[in-house]
This record gives sequence, structure tokens and C-alpha cells, in this order.
Amino acid sequence: MLSFNKILQKIENEISQLSFEYPPKSLYDPIEYILSLGGKRIRPALALMACNLYKENVDNVINPALGIEVFHNFTLLHDDLMDKADKRRNKPTVHKVWNDNTAILSGDAMLIAAYQLIGKTKPEHLKEVFDLFTATALEICGGQQYDMEFESRADVTEPEYMEMIRLKTAVLLACSLKTGAIIGGASKEDAIHLYEFGINIGLAFQLQDDLLDVYGDTATFGKNIGGDIICNKKTFMLIHAFELASAGQKAILNNWISKDTFVPAEKIEAVTTIYNELLLKDIVTAKMQKYYDKAMEHLAELNVPAEKLTILKEVTNHLMYRQS
Ligand code: IPE
Ligand code: IPE
Ligand code: MG
Ligand code: MG
Ligand code: MG
Repeated sequence: MLSFNKILQKIENEISQLSFEYPPKSLYDPIEYILSLGGKRIRPALALMACNLYKENVDNVINPALGIEVFHNFTLLHDDLMDKADKRRNKPTVHKVWNDNTAILSGDAMLIAAYQLIGKTKPEHLKEVFDLFTATALEICGGQQYDMEFESRADVTEPEYMEMIRLKTAVLLACSLKTGAIIGGASKEDAIHLYEFGINIGLAFQLQDDLLDVYGDTATFGKNIGGDIICNKKTFMLIHAFELASAGQKAILNNWISKDTFVPAEKIEAVTTIYNELLLKDIVTAKMQKYYDKAMEHLAELNVPAEKLTILKEVTNHLMYRQS
């Protein structure tokens, strides 16, 4: 079995060998830029780890795993434009270094490059992997659309939020794991459990992302803190803040949310103060724990020797307490 470090090394090595050396250079430079900035590479790592549960040799999962990572990075180019985010992985975002149109078009090229990589899946698994990937990619668009629509809605419920994050985030982690399972030759049952494991860690992952957007440290998180507050993102925290707030706190929240012009730091501080008063950090952490536990239940159902699950368990644990 491969160690997590070995898996990451393999992925980094493969990513560094992806070459985008066609004219016009200006289309491909932003792609090399975003891919060179690192990131956790958690999606391809999950694909390799899932495959490695069933097969010693994980070479056949590398191309689709890279396709998933390139696709993920494409979503970030468009997401940062949509979220007006200036910083990612501690560097200025593509639309800041270049411009909005570049982020759109280089992003589009990345989506196509992702499909090229998925297309290199061995013929015996190509159809299943391709269909899963395509269905997942469409779900993510759906999740992103909800995310944007929710910005201007005041009545978003917790179930709606959970469905939105399932779509925008969890399904890609689940798809990564199932892709590894398919190529590894897992049974249908195991593939489903790995998918559900991915959904549950994905939900916890996005809850943690929303938490870090408020309480993280820019230097380690790599993104500007408070971006979600500025955009009126209907995060788990904001939804619960409205539910738990006193009349006075509600008035303050409503006032900030309805303002078109404001000093960003003042809005972030005011909303964060209410989150602190309502102890929302604890509520989110408990919710994350619930999904973490569910994820572990699915892992326990797999038909593989328990010792092989150690790495996946450690990585999941690490993700739960991540700061970046
Ligand atoms: C960022 O994903 C987008 C979300 C789904 C929250 P990651 O947190 O995996 O970003 P990188 O790839 O590690 O930078
Ligand atoms: C992003 O959610 C999900 C996708 C990119 C599909 P966020 O908007 O919360 O991700 P970050 O915080 O910008 O990484
Ligand atoms: Mg964003
Ligand atoms: Mg977003
Ligand atoms: Mg976020």
C-alpha cells in the first residue's frame, strides 16, 4: 500500500508534467499559474487511495484523478470571479493577475483539458468513469447556481444549504473516491459506500471551509477572511445566526446585509461578533462531527481488511482539523 506522502508525491509529479504549450500562451499561462500554486490535492489523492484499497498498482487511476484536479482548479477560476475573491492559495486570483475574461476562457480551456484527461481512462472503465464525471460536473454547476441565488435570498433553510453544499462540493470528493473504486475493481456495494463516505466528508469539508472563512488565518487558509460575510453567502453560520439571534442582533444582521456600500472590515467585524455571541463555531463543529461519524460508518462497511483503511481515516481526521 502507498503512504499518503507517496500518493501526494506521485500527484505533484504528474501535475508538474502536464504541459500546456500551445499558442496562445496567454490562454495557458493562467492554467499553469493556478496549477503550480499547489493546494491540498485532496481529490486526486482520494481517487488514488480508493483505488489502492483494491489494487497495488494505481497507475490506471492517474489520468482520471488528474482530470478531476484540473476540473477542480477550473471551478476555482470561475468561482473566484463569481465570489469576487482576490486571493487564493496565498496568491492573487487569476482574474486579478489577468482579467475577468481570461479567468472565464482559461477556465473553459481547463474544463476541456479535464475531459481530455478523463478520456484517457482505460477503455474497460471509460464509460462508467466518464458518465460519473459528467453527472458530477453538472451537479456542481447546479450547486454553484444555488450558491449565487442564495446570496440575494433571506429565507434559505438549513436543508437547502446542505443540498447546495452537497452539490457544489461534496459530489466531487465522492466522485473522486468512486472513480478510484471503479478502476480498482471494487464491488458495486463498496463503490457506493466509498461514494457516500465522500459525500459525508465533503459536507464536513464545506462546513469547515465556511468556518475558516470567518475564523481562519489568511496566511494558512490562503484566502481572504470574511469573503462569505461580504457577499451575504447563506452559510450554515448565517442561517443559524438568524435563527438564534435576539431581535436586536437580527436588526444588526439585517442592516449589514441590506447595505450596498460599506467598509468591508466593519461588516466582517459586526457579523463575526454576532457569530461569537451565538457560539456558532461550536454548533458548526458539532454538525461537522455528525457527518464525520456518518462517513466513518460507510468506511466500516467496506469489504477490505481494516488495516487498509488507516490512511483514509487519518486523512479524514486531518481534514476535519485542517486550517488550510
Ligand atoms: C476549495 O477547495 C473549494 C471548496 C470546495 C471549498 P480546496 O479547499 O480543496 O482547495 P485547494 O485545492 O486545496 O486549494
Ligand atoms: C466553492 O465554494 C465550491 C466550488 C468551487 C465548486 P467556495 O466559494 O466556498 O470555495 P472557496 O472558499 O472560494 O475556495
Ligand atoms: Mg469562493
Ligand atoms: Mg463560491
Ligand atoms: Mg469558501
